[in-house]
Amino acid sequence: MRRPADTRPRFRRLLRRVGPLCGLLCVLTQGEMTLATERPIIIAHRGASAYLPEHTLPAKAMAHALKADFIEQDVVLTADGVPIVLHDIHLDSTTDVATVFPHRAREDGRFYAIDFTLAEIRQLRAHERRGADDKAVFPERFPAMKGLSGVPTLAEEIALIDGLNRSSDHRAGIYVEMKGSAFHHREGHDLPAAVMKVLSDGGWAEQRDLVFLQSFEPEALRQLKYKHKTVLPLIQLIAENAWDDSGTVDFDAMRSDEGLSTVAEYADGIGPWLMQLYTGVDHQGEPQLTDLASRARQRGLLVHPYTFRADQLPPGIESFEQLHRVFFQDLQVDGVFSDFPDRSRALSEEFTAQPSR
Ligand code: G3P
Ligand code: CA
Repeated sequence: MRRPADTRPRFRRLLRRVGPLCGLLCVLTQGEMTLATERPIIIAHRGASAYLPEHTLPAKAMAHALKADFIEQDVVLTADGVPIVLHDIHLDSTTDVATVFPHRAREDGRFYAIDFTLAEIRQLRAHERRGADDKAVFPERFPAMKGLSGVPTLAEEIALIDGLNRSSDHRAGIYVEMKGSAFHHREGHDLPAAVMKVLSDGGWAEQRDLVFLQSFEPEALRQLKYKHKTVLPLIQLIAENAWDDSGTVDFDAMRSDEGLSTVAEYADGIGPWLMQLYTGVDHQGEPQLTDLASRARQRGLLVHPYTFRADQLPPGIESFEQLHRVFFQDLQVDGVFSDFPDRSRALSEEFTAQPSR
């Protein structure tokens, strides 16, 4: 397998030779802090979500105990403008809102977080994700009919991580996604501004080595960079056009050379869907890779694909270990979003210790 034509893998090997480095490493070059790390970082996707319901504080505490490098927060706003940690702009897939507030759905039948005050959301219990058929999306995971705990605010969650960083021997960062920034704008709310205020109040707004900000919406990232003048690294998430009927962002164009060059003007990295980097195996079982990661690196962009799940492997991949081998050794990505942060971290360490094939 040919290595992508860029310098980061060589740089990572150099870092490994520097000596025993604990945890993540940032280095100074040309007067600027770069984001190079000695091994790919592991981002606990919605917490340790393979084991506990996504975006609950127990899932975040477990992710910290499993030594995830970063813990992810998807963020939306309440009616009174409070950032809460929730994957969807709707409450119904992961909470008992339809039981507690049965008459509060909009015409489309969905219960929008932006229609509920924080006091109301505090009455809800979060559970493992259920589909439109009300069945568990991942039936082998935590029982989906059991509400576990409440929906946390962003401030509560980062206070938890901050506390664990002090009380334990592990230091985790946060990886905050603004969900539906344009939707919130239409509802009269400024999501990037609300998130930045919480980060600032919590003392995280300057911690470049401990915080990433991410969004699928270029406009949200541009606002963070140019209006809020954040120093925090920004990750442009890349979806498939087919997933979004609004068509407001052309993700095919974003993956072109010109599109990536534009992303590099305002962002520090990309977060592509993993199938945009790996497309399957050929008749001999060899992984088929795209050049997206290589072209992104040529523009100085980090590459953090999503989402690694041992119970939902991509076509042609036979094991979680093989999945990581392809992405860590063949594609040389800089980090991954994983529902299984413990297993991904162990594989990150294992493949970093091995020579590339
Ligand atoms: O933010 C990276 C990854 O989480 C994107 O997918 O839909 O799980 O937020 P999603
Ligand atoms: Ca996310």
